[in-house]
Amino acid sequence: MRNVLLVIHILAAAAWIGGSYGVAFLASRFRRLGHSAGAAYMTAAGAMGRVYFNVAGVLVVVSGIWLVIDGIYDFEDPFVVIGFAVVVVSALLGALIFPKIFSDGLAAHQKEDEAQVADAYDRLRRVSLLDNLILVVAVVAMVYKWGA
Ligand code: HEM
Repeated sequence: MRNVLLVIHILAAAAWIGGSYGVAFLASRFRRLGHSAGAAYMTAAGAMGRVYFNVAGVLVVVSGIWLVIDGIYDFEDPFVVIGFAVVVVSALLGALIFPKIFSDGLAAHQKEDEAQVADAYDRLRRVSLLDNLILVVAVVAMVYKWGA
């Protein structure tokens, strides 16, 4: 059972991180293809935020909590606390910051407003970098079991 949980946990984390890097990587490629491709990117990336990342995040949290209950680790272990902190920060970014960037980016592409398009992609780059860095911190904390 434990190995099944760990497989689910790692697959969900991989899907989350891979999706996040993929969304960031594709931004500039779609932007270069013009306003209608950029608008399609903003719509699709927004949908990923509402569906894909929520499913991956819930699977990571549920399997992670189960791994703690069913294993030798405690909820007070620093690597587990870091896992929760990363989930909370990333969920806040996903609920409050990313949706606004994608809707602003979509509107900017539809208006073909170059300044607003540039602003949306700038914000996306900065927030994605932050999100992707904290996901790396979570993986390193988990692998080294920081503090446990
Ligand atoms: C709710 C927060 C989380 C909890 C409670 C949690 C809990 C755990 C536990 C207890 C383990 C150790 C399993 C074992 O070796 O027996 C583990 C491993 C792991 N976790 Fe998490 N985790 C959480 C969030 C995350 C996040 C956000 C990521 C990455 C996005 C992540 C990625 C991993 C990975 C890659 C491993 C495998 C490490 C290894 O076995 O070497 N976890 N997690």
